[in-house]
Amino acid sequence: MTDLPPVAVEAYLNWCKNAVEHFLESLFEKEQGTAYGTLAESMRYSLLAGGKRIRPVLAMAALESLGADPLVYIPLLAPLELIHTYSLIHDDLPAMDDDSLRRGKPTNHVIYGDATAILAGDALLTYAFTLLSDPDYDKLVSFETRVKVIRELSIGAGINGMVGGQQMDIASEGKALDLPSLEFLHRHKTGALIRSSLRIGAFLGKASSQEFDRLDRYGQAVGIAFQIADDLLDVEGDAALLGKAAQKDQDRHKNTYPGLMGVEKAREMARMKLDEALEAIAFFGDRAGHLRALASYIIERRN
Ligand code: IPE
Ligand code: IPE
Ligand code: MG
Ligand code: MG
Ligand code: MG
Repeated sequence: MTDLPPVAVEAYLNWCKNAVEHFLESLFEKEQGTAYGTLAESMRYSLLAGGKRIRPVLAMAALESLGADPLVYIPLLAPLELIHTYSLIHDDLPAMDDDSLRRGKPTNHVIYGDATAILAGDALLTYAFTLLSDPDYDKLVSFETRVKVIRELSIGAGINGMVGGQQMDIASEGKALDLPSLEFLHRHKTGALIRSSLRIGAFLGKASSQEFDRLDRYGQAVGIAFQIADDLLDVEGDAALLGKAAQKDQDRHKNTYPGLMGVEKAREMARMKLDEALEAIAFFGDRAGHLRALASYIIERRN
């Protein structure tokens, strides 16, 4: 891998993804041979099954927009992917969305059973904070910044973020939410961790308050756009390409954008969020090329 990021979005995504995966793989070299072999195997199974790695990639692009080298911060961005993967393992459990395909493979609980899948999720979540507080990175980032990152991630992932949104998603199955409530749900369930990715990139890249505010606004817009696209892919996508089941949300009476307003209006809403995101980062000029490309990719993606 070269040290200079490529220009085209697919190549850029791959470049970032390879760097993130290389680091994720290295985590299990340390874990091998412990008494918790099955648990480590189950964590590794889901974490390295594929996935777009969009959350760390967005943080990397935010770092670039600030003139920082994204590669050196990967150990502090990988926690986003650990937490995201845990959320997918739990999301797929029979007690939640009850799915049997994820990232093109049988879901974690199908292979390892519900108990180990729950524990693998718990262990990925907690390991995120082991990494973020690892003294190995003392030279890379100050304690003060590190505490901000830890707090950001814990809020984005927790009751006022992703977990709160997941609860609302489950609790409102079968009830028809209005648009403000649906936006609230998406803002938490998926938007919060994506927003945190941008904010973490901004903290690590020592953003000024104006830069921080711009990246934060971009994160809020792409966070919602990402879940609208996910909802659209459930309606229109193909399981083989998605690597997960499609056409399930309606059967499970989930609250989704296309469910509430139809496919065309949902697509329009995603385009509005794209415009908001682009407007927020216009100020960065050429430095935000990858952030711009990623925002378009998020609404146009096929998986
Ligand atoms: C799927 O997330 C679940 C949502 C939050 C919408 P991704 O689409 O990022 O899943 P992977 O990581 O690429 O598998
Ligand atoms: C899941 O949303 C969001 C998470 C926080 C995991 P979905 O339930 O729509 O995600 P998919 O469609 O199963 O990937
Ligand atoms: Mg779900
Ligand atoms: Mg699901
Ligand atoms: Mg979905």
